Amino acid sequence: MSRSLLPLLADGEFHSGQDLAEAMGVSRTAVWKQVNRLVNDSVLAIESVKGKGYRIPGGIDLLDAAQVKAGLDPRAAALMGRLEILDTVDSTNAHVMRLAEQDGLTGLVCSAEQQSAGRGRRGRQWVSPYASNLYLSLLWEFTQGAAALEGLSLAVGVAVARALRACDVPAVQLKWPNDVLYDGAKLGGILLEMSGDAAGSCRVVIGVGLNVAMPDAAAGAIDQAWTDINTMTSSQTPGRSRILAALLNELLPLVADFEQRGFAHWREEWQSLDALADAAVVLHAGEVPLAGIARGVDARGALQLETATGLQSVYGGEVSLRAAS
Ligand code: BTN
Repeated sequence: MSRSLLPLLADGEFHSGQDLAEAMGVSRTAVWKQVNRLVNDSVLAIESVKGKGYRIPGGIDLLDAAQVKAGLDPRAAALMGRLEILDTVDSTNAHVMRLAEQDGLTGLVCSAEQQSAGRGRRGRQWVSPYASNLYLSLLWEFTQGAAALEGLSLAVGVAVARALRACDVPAVQLKWPNDVLYDGAKLGGILLEMSGDAAGSCRVVIGVGLNVAMPDAAAGAIDQAWTDINTMTSSQTPGRSRILAALLNELLPLVADFEQRGFAHWREEWQSLDALADAAVVLHAGEVPLAGIARGVDARGALQLETATGLQSVYGGEVSLRAAS
């Protein structure tokens, strides 16, 4: 796919085939072919009107690496490694996991306009249409083994909530273990993947997906209540590059400090954002669902579930928690 055509059409205005061809240094036929490919691959709706040219109705907000870097505060900028902004990738997490085999890439950040196989928790897909939402993966190497990383994914949720606050997005809530919610609907999710030595040096890919402006055509594939920042802000949405920078401003210091501080440092803030605090819930972990009252999390990030037989600590993994109906 051409990266040069889409920036020219990003403003939502009509551009003639001739103007586009000149700006790109290709023939009008080449422009037409590229437009057709984008439309046929269902990447974007591009309108073509005789005598006017081509346009993307409503325009698109493409990610801009320079704008992301300009939005970083000094500490985040110093901690960040390579910044990759890709057009299309299977999954930013999968891509960064592949790169994690190489040494010296700690701090690598990857974002993409589109994921063709976005991964969610528990083997689910993460709906990832073009130039609409945010898909972000950060690679970080930790040295003290997996046990020192307990609660990291919850702390990432706190970082996401802070970043959205910094962008003047209405306050979100967190649902144990890894959901970002607004008004009970899913706004984003967090997926941590790990490679290396569980007892020593391990590389963690921290994946964050945030719905920013979910197109109706893509939303049909989402199998739960969802929302996006566009809806929350009545379309006064901060640009995606700004949100990405805000996320990095929170995430990079978090990962740099996490082993030293542990989840205990973020626990109180996590509890203040807990969507299911003191709610009747059902936990789906093994064969038999477990009902109880959610009583927040402990210093290791384990859910404190008050059941008929007493308080149980539930650690993350292949679990899901729902409000009891
Ligand atoms: C969830 O199921 O709630 C977790 C969703 C995580 C999605 C993000 S998008 C960026 C990164 N790449 C992926 O393939 N998944 C994560």
